[in-house]
Amino acid sequence: MSDVADLKAIANPPNTVTRRELIKGVIVGGVAVSSASYLFRASTLLGQPGRGTGERLLTINVNGQMRRADVMKQETLAWTLRHKLGLTGTKLGCDRAECGSCTVLIDGVPHYSCSILTHTVRDKSVLTIEGLASSDGTLHPVQQGVIDEQGFQCAFCMPGFIMAAVAFLNLNPNPTRSELAHGLAGNLCRCQDYDKILTAMMRGAENMRRANRV
Ligand code: FES
Ligand code: FES
Repeated sequence: MSDVADLKAIANPPNTVTRRELIKGVIVGGVAVSSASYLFRASTLLGQPGRGTGERLLTINVNGQMRRADVMKQETLAWTLRHKLGLTGTKLGCDRAECGSCTVLIDGVPHYSCSILTHTVRDKSVLTIEGLASSDGTLHPVQQGVIDEQGFQCAFCMPGFIMAAVAFLNLNPNPTRSELAHGLAGNLCRCQDYDKILTAMMRGAENMRRANRV
C-alpha cells in the first residue's frame, strides 16, 4: 500500500474492527469504568447516595430519642450524627480513629464514631455531647467542670474529651490525676492544652462525686 493509501486508511477507517482496535477499546473502556467507580465512590463519600449503594431507613436511639435517618451501608456514625441528624457537637478531626474528637458513648462505652458503621448501632443507645445536660438545661458535672476551670483553648477537642471522661468517671469516680490522664489517653488536643484539660476533668470528677452524694 502506498503512503497516500495508508493516510486515507487512518483518516477513514473501515467499519470492520480489528483485534488491535478491539483490545484498545477494552483498555479505554476499562479505564472509563475505573474512573466512573472512583467518581461514584467519591460522590457517595460526599454524602450523595448513588444508585445501588444499599441506603435504607434506620431508627437509632440517640440521646434517648428514636431518630430516623436514611443511612448508606458504608456510612459512619459520625457522618450520620453530623449530617443526617444535625448533631454537630460530635467533631470530626482525623476521621481515622486517631484523635478522639468524635468520641460518643454506645451503651455507655466510649467509641470513635468516625470508625463505627451506623448500621451496627441499630439496637444500641448512642449518647452524644448534646445529650449530656439534663432536660432542664443543667449541665453535666463534667461540663460544669470545664466552665469552672476554663479548660480548653479552641475547644474543638472538647466534646470528645468530655464524653471520654464521663465514661471513665462512671466506672472510676475517684481517680488520681494520672489515672484520669491514662483514661483520656485516646483523646488528642491540637492546642496541646493537656494540663488545663486535665484540671477541668478532675474538677468534673469532683462535681460528679458531689452530685451523686446529694
Ligand atoms: S475523628 Fe474520629 S478519632 Fe479522630
Ligand atoms: S483545645 Fe484546641 S484542639 Fe484541644
